[in-house]
Amino acid sequence: MREKVFYVTTPIYYVNAEPHIGHAYTTIVADFLARWHRLAGYDTYFLTGTDEHGEKIAQAARASDEEPQAFVDRMSARFRQAWKKLNIKYDDFIRTTEPRHKNVVQQVLQKVYDAGDIYYGEYEGLYCVGCERFLTEKELVDGRCPDHGTVPERRKEGNYFFRMEKYRLWLKSYIEENPDFIRPEGYRNEVLSMLSEPVGDLSISRPRRRVPWGIPLPWDEEHVTYVWFDALLNYVSALGYPDGEKYRRYWEHAWHLIGKDILKPHAVFWPTMLKSAGIPIYRCLNVGGFLLGPDGRKMSKSLGNVVDPFALADRYGPDVVRYYLLRDLPYGLDGSVGEAALVERYNADLANDLGNLLSRTVTMIEKFFGGYIPSPGPAEGPDHELISEAEKLPDAVESLIRRMELSEALKAIWKFIGRANKYIDETAPWALAKDPAKKERLATVIYNLAEALRIISVHIEPAMPGIPAKIREQLGINDENLTSWESVRRFGVLPAGLNVGDKKIIFPRIEGPVEIKTAEEKSKGQQLITIDDFAKVDLRVAEVLEASRIEGADKLLKLKVRIGEETRQIVAGIAKHYSPEQLIGKKIVVVANLKPTKLRGVESQGMLLAASSKEKVVLVTVDEDIEAGAKVK
Ligand code: MSP
Repeated sequence: MREKVFYVTTPIYYVNAEPHIGHAYTTIVADFLARWHRLAGYDTYFLTGTDEHGEKIAQAARASDEEPQAFVDRMSARFRQAWKKLNIKYDDFIRTTEPRHKNVVQQVLQKVYDAGDIYYGEYEGLYCVGCERFLTEKELVDGRCPDHGTVPERRKEGNYFFRMEKYRLWLKSYIEENPDFIRPEGYRNEVLSMLSEPVGDLSISRPRRRVPWGIPLPWDEEHVTYVWFDALLNYVSALGYPDGEKYRRYWEHAWHLIGKDILKPHAVFWPTMLKSAGIPIYRCLNVGGFLLGPDGRKMSKSLGNVVDPFALADRYGPDVVRYYLLRDLPYGLDGSVGEAALVERYNADLANDLGNLLSRTVTMIEKFFGGYIPSPGPAEGPDHELISEAEKLPDAVESLIRRMELSEALKAIWKFIGRANKYIDETAPWALAKDPAKKERLATVIYNLAEALRIISVHIEPAMPGIPAKIREQLGINDENLTSWESVRRFGVLPAGLNVGDKKIIFPRIEGPVEIKTAEEKSKGQQLITIDDFAKVDLRVAEVLEASRIEGADKLLKLKVRIGEETRQIVAGIAKHYSPEQLIGKKIVVVANLKPTKLRGVESQGMLLAASSKEKVVLVTVDEDIEAGAKVK
């Protein structure tokens, strides 16, 4: 059996911009994996950090009128704050401007140089500053970088080169022999096709006079290290390569997580660099798709469709945002995200499925057993299926996680939650409670539900680390032996007699249409509607026939109005601004197709329109006389 050790990394993020949803998604996936492995008893190490050298960062520092070091210090801190907000529990945060990293970069460069894998040459090519790499003609779309939409610059300069091509065929057969090395499979095929023709050598330096912000080459101070050669080494420098204890313990277990735009550096540059430096290759590369705006288009400020995960976390809490992203997006594929979809998912899975299961169970424990979890009797009927589903769950979830099918893993957990809800319907505990002879059966049903919730609380922890404690508090569980991964392999370990806590709703339903605000709408402060939306409102001229006060409601007046042939009663909150007498005979405007409602027990069959400011409320009337019932549009 393989040693239970797990090392997971995110890309280190460029500090030229604020943390955004693409960074958040990859980091949440990494945190999910780290938390699951810790839970399952793995010695786990989770690394993230920031990428702080290179032209792009130097340009951004200049644009904000700061010294590069001050700029990167400030921006790197923004990432640490962002991760706090999403409840990300990393073990280390590496910055490429730290001495511990720079030393390793220089050591590895020297090693590769000494191995004869670095030479000096002239290079001419098309450089994209956004990608910080030379693009091949084949990669361009209409002469532009497909990721940044910019025309790359033609550059010719003296650089040092790494003999990447020398390792191409070795890498190709390594990938062919190790089907799980790059996944999902689509990306593995993409890399194999890249490697089926020459990849060329990699320029690994920049003249210092042009790009001063970088790590000098150990053998030539006039050149600094190319930012990708520098950045990729973070994965080993953070562990204390070459002889640190962490390096020895974790490195060979490394799972890298990246977005699809940085596939080539991780799948081609990095393994060949490792091979040349005599460092063992990482375990696997996991490639995530891109998050798109709610409209299905690439998120961009100019399209106004940027979804801000940190604002969502402020509004709904980190657990909800984490669950939503992990559950809604099959890992590896592109997918749309947005607030409306988050709310829909929240109401269905959290408020309904999980929230109801918990509140129904706790209510029944209180009601039927005075707040104490009862002792179960023998299993019968639907118990067997519930128990066997529960006992199958940990292995099923584990194997989905290993295959990076994270959304499916959560789906499996929710399928079990659905099973438990169905169990309530099948066993009908409210009916059992009416028959004193069925007390033992009732106890068994209620016990099984509490036990199912214990098992669920353990399974959801990696996705929603803040929720299990809330579930357990309500079930009176505070023993660590009941919350370990091992403890969920067997059904029935929950001791009877635990005293449940106060019932609390952890996921209140979010009612009503959600206001989806993109940055653009926020700045306008309103949402636009179409003419069809407006046409749904039936506005009519109405004549006030009668008006009177409503007893006990000093703001309300009761009106009888005529709309064409029809007479209606409308209750309006205008008593402070109009006396009943003032209104009689007036022609006003009303919404005629509003659902009737009761205000202070009095039925209102429509709504009148009035304009209001801080002090004043005035009725909307018609400019000239027109018959009651005329349409306003
Ligand atoms: N600094 C490099 C990585 C060096 S790792 C040795 C870098 N940084 S980045 O900040 O530009 O991007 C980091 C990650 O964010 C990439 O994996 C990228 O794919 C991901 N995302 C950026 N926008 C994204 C979406 N809209 N959706 C999902 N992920 C995307 O590249």
